Amino acid sequence: MPYSQIITLEQFIVDQQSLYKDAGGSLSRIFRSLELAAKVVNRDVRKAGLVDILGNHGATNTHGEEQKKLDVIANDVFIAALSKSGEVSIVISEENDEPVFVEGCEEEKYIVAIDPLDGSSNIDVNASIGTIFSIYRRNAANKVASLADCMQKGKHQVAAGYIIYGSSTMLVYTTGLGVNGFTLDDSIQEFCLSHPKIQIPSQGKVFSINEGNYADFPEGVQEYVQYCKAKDKETNRPYGARYIGSLIADFHRNLLKGGIFIYPPTEKTPNGKLRLMYECNPMSFIVEQAGGKSSTGKMRVLDVLPEDLHQRVPLFIGSAEMVDMAVSMLNNAGELVAADAR
Ligand code: AHG
Ligand code: MN
Ligand code: MN
Repeated sequence: MPYSQIITLEQFIVDQQSLYKDAGGSLSRIFRSLELAAKVVNRDVRKAGLVDILGNHGATNTHGEEQKKLDVIANDVFIAALSKSGEVSIVISEENDEPVFVEGCEEEKYIVAIDPLDGSSNIDVNASIGTIFSIYRRNAANKVASLADCMQKGKHQVAAGYIIYGSSTMLVYTTGLGVNGFTLDDSIQEFCLSHPKIQIPSQGKVFSINEGNYADFPEGVQEYVQYCKAKDKETNRPYGARYIGSLIADFHRNLLKGGIFIYPPTEKTPNGKLRLMYECNPMSFIVEQAGGKSSTGKMRVLDVLPEDLHQRVPLFIGSAEMVDMAVSMLNNAGELVAADAR
C-alpha cells in the first residue's frame, strides 16, 4: 500500500474524536500517551534477549506472583506516560496494591486500569506478550478522584484495548464504535490501520483452556472440553486446541479466527485466575464490540460490580455460539452427557 493511503492511529483517533463525545480531546491525549508507552515497551521487549533485562526481578506482586524485570519496566512506563498526559486522575494496575493517584490531576475525569505485561511467564521463551488497558470516566459529582470512582461495572468503560508484542506489534482498541487494529510499522514507528472493523466469527474451530487443570474443572466444563474433542462432521469437530498461556495471544488469535477461551473456576481457584479490572473487562468490551460474547459462567462479565480492585472472575470469552454452548453446559452439567447416552 502506498504510504499516502496509510491511516495512522493518531489520524484515525483525530478523525473519530467528534464521535467520542470528547470534544476537548482528553481521550485523544490519553491515547497518545498509551501509544508512546507502547512504543517504548515494544523497544524493550524487542531487545529483551540482547540485554540483561530478562529474568526475575526478585519482587512479588500483589498476587504473590514473581515479577519479571519487564513487568516492572512496563508498569513504570505506562504509569509515567498516563500521568504525563494530564488527563488521568487515577491509574490502577495489576502490579500495584493501591491505586496511583496522579499528583496535580486529582480533578481530572479519567481513570485507567492496566495489565502492563500480560503473559509475562512467556518472556523468557520468546512467545507473545502484551499490555491491556481500560479507560473509565469518573463520577463527575465528586470534585476529587477517590477509590470509589474505580469500582465501576465494565459496561461503563469508555475505551479498552491491548497492545500485543507478537511477530509484529499491534494495538487493538474499541471506544464502543467497533474494534480496529493497528500494526506498528517499525520503519516509521507508526501504528497503521491494518485490521479495520474487526468481527469475530460467531463459530470457530479452536478452544483454548489449560487442560492440565482438567481434574479440577467443574463437571460442565469437563463436558464442554469432551464436546470440543469429540468427532462430528456436521459441526466440524473435533476443534483444534490452542493455549499459549498468554491471555492476550490466545484472545487475539480467537478474535481474528474465531474460537473460545476459557479460564474456569477450579478447586484451587474458585474465581478462576484472571482479574476482572485488568483482563476480563477490557477483553469483554472488545469481544462484544466485535460481535462475540463474554461470561463468568453465571453472568455477563461487563455487568459484574467490582468489590475489590484485584478481584478475579471465571472467564468464558470468544465466538458467540461457542460461549453460549459452554455456558449452557456449565449450568446444565450432567444433562447433556446423559442425553448423548440415550
Ligand atoms: P499475567 O502474566 O499478567 O500474570 O497473566 C497471566 C495470565 C494470562 O495471561 C494467561 O491466560 C493465564 O495467566 C495463564 O494461566 P495458567 O498458566 O494457569 O494457564
Ligand atoms: Mn495478565
Ligand atoms: Mn501482568
